[in-house]
Amino acid sequence: MDITAAVFREVGQPLTIETLTLAEPKAGEVLVKVMASGICHSDLHVINGEWSSPTPLVLGHEGAGIVETVGAGVTSVSPGDHVVLSWMPYCRRCEYCLSGRQNLCELVERTAYQSVMLDGTTRLTSGDEDVYSYLATASFANWAVVPETAAIRIRKDAPLDKVSLVGCAVATGIGAVANTARVPMGSTVLVVGCGGVGLSVISGAVIAGASQVIAVDINESNLDRAKQIGATHTLNSRNVDVVSALPPITGKAGVDYAFEAIGLTETIEMAYGALAPGGTAIVVGQVAEGKTITIDPFVMSDREKTLTGSNYGSCRPPLDFPKFVDLYMNGRLPLDSLIERTIDISEINTAFDAMARGDTARTIIIH
Ligand code: APR
Ligand code: ZN
Repeated sequence: MDITAAVFREVGQPLTIETLTLAEPKAGEVLVKVMASGICHSDLHVINGEWSSPTPLVLGHEGAGIVETVGAGVTSVSPGDHVVLSWMPYCRRCEYCLSGRQNLCELVERTAYQSVMLDGTTRLTSGDEDVYSYLATASFANWAVVPETAAIRIRKDAPLDKVSLVGCAVATGIGAVANTARVPMGSTVLVVGCGGVGLSVISGAVIAGASQVIAVDINESNLDRAKQIGATHTLNSRNVDVVSALPPITGKAGVDYAFEAIGLTETIEMAYGALAPGGTAIVVGQVAEGKTITIDPFVMSDREKTLTGSNYGSCRPPLDFPKFVDLYMNGRLPLDSLIERTIDISEINTAFDAMARGDTARTIIIH
């Protein structure tokens, strides 16, 4: 079938809106009518050349839609099901899958991280040319073929434009709090970076019952969103030294948990430096390839500070995504506050320009 997609062809160049051909789903795959897709900083990392990737490539990995047809052997979804797309296909058989750590299954490295399907090929073409499918979701297109474990069934009364955010920002952010760090009630929490991911970390901390949620950003309008979502304090790190601002707020040397949700080495070091003794810093943001950080190992052992990472919020998509959708539908998750605007796919490059300037929250494409 012919589809309309935003195609990445060259680093630093605008995406081009093209008509591509999408093949039928093969065994273990699902054809989805993509209704909406959020724009995430991970897409921008690829456009900027910070992460290498095959080209041409359809970006987008925060989508939601409706199942149209399913390939042979697919049992977990049927035509007509509403789904949130997950960019973490998993095998269901390995040690990680069997122990509930699907986000560490190695299948993702051979498929989504290579922008191909389970058999190592792609369903997208432009004339004779193969076109790759970013994170095996390629949601900057009105139709997508995805692996079965990437199509997560959700309730049908949820608005797909809003809950598309569950597929990346919400899973990554709330999951980091609830699944990776398991933040206990009454904790003090620092969140560095208040884009879609950081704001979702804040929502997670509020839901977890953090006593203080301190939001850090350099963009005042995203700090305002952080307040709306439930941050108790905001710090603009352009004007304030964050680490020295914390003791008067928390009444001790720092915070119990610090989440980095930008993907910069200096803010990861800041998050670690912000910990009180016994605290844990969680790297949620993803850094450009080849960067390293410096941590003082004496402080790590002497003050028992932990540095850890979270990928996709340690989520088990079929278990967690319907819960995130329920939280939204029950008024417990303010997704609307994450959304700056909705656009047509033809306006996608202006949304990336705004993200690169750092002056936007989530933009949602409506297909
Ligand atoms: N100090 C403080 N805040 C900063 C800084 C900085 N040096 N640089 C950027 N920010 C803020 C921006 O103002 C913005 O509010 O970080 C936020 C980043 O938001 P987005 O660009 O919307 O990124 P998001 O999609 O939330 O992703 C964040 O998580 O999954 C990863 O790859 C993703 O690394 C990215 C990170
Ligand atoms: Zn993302």
